[in-house]
Amino acid sequence: MYTQALNAPQSDERHLEDADKSARFEARVANEQRIEPNDWMPAAYRKTLTRQISQHAHSEIVGMLPEGNWITRAPTLRRKAALLAKVQDECGHGLYLYAAAETLGSSREELVDQLLGGKAKYSSIFNYPTLTWADIGAIGWLVDGAAIMNQIPLCRCSYGPYARAMIRVCKEESFHQRQGYEIMVTLSRGTDEQKAMAQDALNRWWWPCLMMFGPPDQQSQHGNQSTRWKIKRFSNDELRQKFVDATVPQARYLGLTMPDPELRFNDATQHWDFGAIDWQEFADVLAGFGPCNRDRMAARRKAHDDGAWVREAAQAYADKERARRAADNAVAA
Ligand code: ACO
Repeated sequence: MYTQALNAPQSDERHLEDADKSARFEARVANEQRIEPNDWMPAAYRKTLTRQISQHAHSEIVGMLPEGNWITRAPTLRRKAALLAKVQDECGHGLYLYAAAETLGSSREELVDQLLGGKAKYSSIFNYPTLTWADIGAIGWLVDGAAIMNQIPLCRCSYGPYARAMIRVCKEESFHQRQGYEIMVTLSRGTDEQKAMAQDALNRWWWPCLMMFGPPDQQSQHGNQSTRWKIKRFSNDELRQKFVDATVPQARYLGLTMPDPELRFNDATQHWDFGAIDWQEFADVLAGFGPCNRDRMAARRKAHDDGAWVREAAQAYADKERARRAADNAVAA
């Protein structure tokens, strides 16, 4: 009885304190002030950011695989150097993003374990194969183009470390988009065979790229809350439409045909209307049944296992340094 009496006011106080902190948090977000790692934040805000940032990090890392596959087969030294730099950039993006996620209290090891254990998602787009060199052009043009459309608004995300990481990521993605588009320009001005290869790549990548933006708004579980918290600035459908509007004229410049017979410019809305997306395909890819899900996860698990000795060596070095510093401090004292 005594304990209960003692606890009751304490829990009420905590509740009031949390309500006060929550009101201050909401006011900061409303006033466009950044939330930083040491600031109080609601548990759900921390959770959804950790989810989104870690999925984003995993996507960058898994995203190295379809393109890495072409480094040795790039047609010229210039193309090889550009692709190599691009794939390295994607690795760097993954590292900034894991670091941003760590500021929310989850370690990189935990996050990587979630990926390797099949508990964490990564972008659906990286479960499709790169069958020809034109796919490298299409990935740069379309996949990185879609990534930029989605990520530029993230530079204004309410969480400081994520927003700041996105600035550099977007600059690099912009280079990636241009290198892809340049490949597409070269192929579409090349021989009939090269042009056909570019068209085939567009045909295969177009619809999966539209899926990258996530489910339609009515089915987006996190969309409304993330928009209220200014993590997302545009809905999935809004970004998808912006991407279609930006990309159709680029395809026309290439002289390629969009694989969508229902694509039409709507004078009333001043947007391109497009055909229905196959959301069953998206659900299948997310459930692990895309064309390359197994290969991607097998490659990541192998890379993780092969890198175990590097992590062990780095840990042993860090432990040794710490022990040496402690011994030096003891002598100095
Ligand atoms: N691939 C895999 N999963 C997806 C995808 C996709 N393309 N789109 C949505 N999902 C998942 C969501 O993660 C969520 O699953 P969860 O609850 O298990 O986390 C579920 O589908 C429902 O989607 P939403 O409620 O709409 O999710 P959210 O509000 O987080 O929006 C989005 C999804 C737009 C992908 C958002 O998380 C985002 O902007 N992420 C950052 C960008 C990013 O990760 N890009 C990946 C590509 S990076 C690159 O191209 C190099």
